Amino acid sequence: MSTLIEIKDLVTNFYTYEGVVKALNKISLEVKKGSTFGLVGESGCGKSVLVRSIMRIVQSPGVIEGGQVLFHKKKNGKEVVVDLLQQSEEYMRSIRGSDISMIFQEPNAALNPILSIGYQVSESFLFHVAEEMCEKILDELNSPNDHTFFPIKQFLKYTYRVGSSDSKAFVLKLFKKIPFLKKWDKRLKKEALKRSVEIIDKLHVPDPEQTVKSYPHNLSGGMKQRIVIAMALACNPDLLIADEATSNLDVTVQAQILELLNELKKEVISSILLITHDLGVVAETCERVGVMYAGSLCEVGDVNEIFKDPKHPYTKALLRSVPLFSNEGKLESIEGTVPNLVNPPTGCRFHPRCSLVMEQCKQEAPELKEVGPNHTVACFAVN
Ligand SMILES: Nc1ncnc2c1ncn2[C@@H]1O[C@H](COP(=O)(O)OP(=O)(O)OP(=O)(O)O)[C@@H](O)[C@H]1O
Ligand code: SF4
Ligand SMILES: [Mg+2]
Repeated sequence: MSTLIEIKDLVTNFYTYEGVVKALNKISLEVKKGSTFGLVGESGCGKSVLVRSIMRIVQSPGVIEGGQVLFHKKKNGKEVVVDLLQQSEEYMRSIRGSDISMIFQEPNAALNPILSIGYQVSESFLFHVAEEMCEKILDELNSPNDHTFFPIKQFLKYTYRVGSSDSKAFVLKLFKKIPFLKKWDKRLKKEALKRSVEIIDKLHVPDPEQTVKSYPHNLSGGMKQRIVIAMALACNPDLLIADEATSNLDVTVQAQILELLNELKKEVISSILLITHDLGVVAETCERVGVMYAGSLCEVGDVNEIFKDPKHPYTKALLRSVPLFSNEGKLESIEGTVPNLVNPPTGCRFHPRCSLVMEQCKQEAPELKEVGPNHTVACFAVN
């Protein structure tokens, strides 16, 4: 499988009154095309900061201070590799929601209570539809039957074709605002609504035609999260990032949605980066898994391999704390607490909780090294 996104030595810090929170400590990982990568680890270990750093939406006072996020992007049938950390904010706006989409835990935060579902899902489609249809519409403006003022036609065409996403958005706004261009706006909206109904149907929402006319408060939590997923999938993203997207839902709905995501992966999305506390979910839905501890990745590998034969002391402890994976059903909690990331432990950040700790672990930070095919571990005690 070829690479979709490659993260190298990513460092993100938060400059707070209490001191510098060292949230990401040189994270490196790779998501392959067509695969689902699961990211697990205790609360506060940096999972959300990592995906927000990929999208360049880290909240203040966070700063991305080092590393690369290499995205293998399709452009005019060719693949180009772009470092997202080096791109302009305008470029990132064109990537977000289009090449990379993200869904969060709380669907209500992503939905506007006073706008209909159809309006909100259509909005996500509109830009994509306009990309496809605008050229056609602008060509039609040249037809003998069209009486739009000539300089306006030229202006619209020029603005649209200069290629930046902001200029395209500007043309869309003109379609909306200028009375004699409104017929084009209507046509784009009609197409966007048609596609909204189709995707809602794909997400197994009952009666999609009726659902697009309803409002968020008319829907259950599970249905709302499906709508949010529909919005995230509107532009056939290459990467869908789901940050605890199903944790608020009951187990059955959660299972249905995860199954759906895996189904859709074959059709509309290329790869998924799934963040979850639930190792059972990872076992069922992911091919690869990365285990994070206190801002560092301690183990990365194929799901089957890691669950069968975990190598890192933290991964082992994490698995022993979950009923599904613990030996003879005996649950063990991990002793100690997650460190404060303002003053993280020196050397290996897990050393104060590790039963195998050696002197070297207190001085030096272990790097991820290969221990088997596609399996890397950051620990001095593992060879
Ligand atoms: N806005 C912020 N200001 C200061 N520190 C922050 C901010 N956002 C995150 N952090 C810190 O960054 C670290 C990583 O947080 P993050 O939210 O990524 O954890 P997480 O693994 O997603 O946890 P959870 O599983 O609870 O969602 C934490 O120590 C947190 O306190
Ligand atoms: S490097 Fe040392 S402290 Fe860290 S997990 Fe390995 S043995 Fe434990
Ligand atoms: Mg989080």
